[in-house]
Amino acid sequence: MVAFFRFLRLNIPLVTLTGVLSHSNLIENLAPVLTEVQKQKTLRKAVILAGGEGTRLRPLTNGIPKPMLPVLNHPFLEHTIRYLTKYGITEVILALSYLPDIITDYFGDGRRLGVQLHYTLEDSPLGTAGAVKNAGEYLDSTFLVLNGDIYTDLDIAAMFDFHRKRKAKATIALTWVDNPCAFGVVESDRTGRIKRFIEKPAPAEVTTNWINAGVYILEPGVLQQVPDNTHYMFERGLFPRLLELGEPMCGYQFRGQWLDMGTPEKYLCLNCDLLLSDNRPGFIGRPGENGLYCAKNAVIHASARIDGPAVIASRSRIGPRVHIRGPVVIGPDCTIGAGAVLDTTVLWRGVTIGEGAVLKKCVIGNDTEIQPRERVIDCVIPPSGAGQTGK
Ligand code: GDD
Ligand code: MG
Repeated sequence: MVAFFRFLRLNIPLVTLTGVLSHSNLIENLAPVLTEVQKQKTLRKAVILAGGEGTRLRPLTNGIPKPMLPVLNHPFLEHTIRYLTKYGITEVILALSYLPDIITDYFGDGRRLGVQLHYTLEDSPLGTAGAVKNAGEYLDSTFLVLNGDIYTDLDIAAMFDFHRKRKAKATIALTWVDNPCAFGVVESDRTGRIKRFIEKPAPAEVTTNWINAGVYILEPGVLQQVPDNTHYMFERGLFPRLLELGEPMCGYQFRGQWLDMGTPEKYLCLNCDLLLSDNRPGFIGRPGENGLYCAKNAVIHASARIDGPAVIASRSRIGPRVHIRGPVVIGPDCTIGAGAVLDTTVLWRGVTIGEGAVLKKCVIGNDTEIQPRERVIDCVIPPSGAGQTGK
């Protein structure tokens, strides 16, 4: 059985990364009255919340944690870590709970990506704030927290600058969405000071379209309000508590790319939009003719037609008269039979597409097979052996 979904195109304005801002003049002028927080010029540490079960992405997440889903053939978490390193983050704590070994085995000590990685494990999920408290031993200076399912080009340096100028204890990145009901709505005043949180509001409760983007800058002291070894959330627990205590909390509004890839249609959108945007990760290389990013050892029959953008990974074989209508991502070790058509689709590793099959708006998991002449439209097929529900 497969899950069906409607494909949604994203309409997010594309903004390139704006680079690290210089704060040196400001720091020099204010030096005599600076607190420890304000002296810190750049953020060095980040916690990525990567322990959720990815329930809304089932069956894709039945055997693989959400942050490890391949995006342009690399685990999503790899994109996230590379993004953080662009802003000078050198130490990343991955807060894990669901299928942690898959993540630790892949990333190891993080050296390959130019960061020092630490892992924290929760026997049972501690919630978003509980998971960060659990990483408290690493958090002795201002730090960033990032939901592990967020794709964004938010300028972290500019957000940190804002946080310091406001002398905030917590700053929450806010993004504007058409329908905030699936998110945490955050009301703030003209100075940016946060006034109210409404997590996952009913339509009648929505008072603003600015939502919690799942990126926070926090002072370590706020973790004193989070109980040890207890399930506790930022959204319904710590943030409302800090408001009650009158602690300065600010919302940083930004208008760049932002996506929570936590549903199959958003996951497909992310792959497609990255291929279509100017913000493609460097590791897929340079496009060839027709926007084709092709591994050297992939084999494409001379009669195949490719309308990119498309990524074709190592050892994949594209048969005669195949038609690829991008955006399309083909993972390693796939075989596409003669005359098959792939349109706006992501194939993971080891997928076999039978002759004459037609796929449109699909995500097809590892080691699965589509029968000859089968028509598969708007479908998610889990990896072979992953089952349909549960872990
Ligand atoms: N370690 C750990 N432990 N991580 C967790 C846990 C936990 O118990 N629970 C959730 N996470 C991780 C998830 O893996 C995900 O990366 C992140 O925390 C957020 O959890 P989601 O389940 O994806 O939350 P959401 O999307 O419904 O809502 C959150 O994100 C929205 C933005 O996308 C909230 O923060 C909303 O307020 C926000 O608008
Ligand atoms: Mg989410």
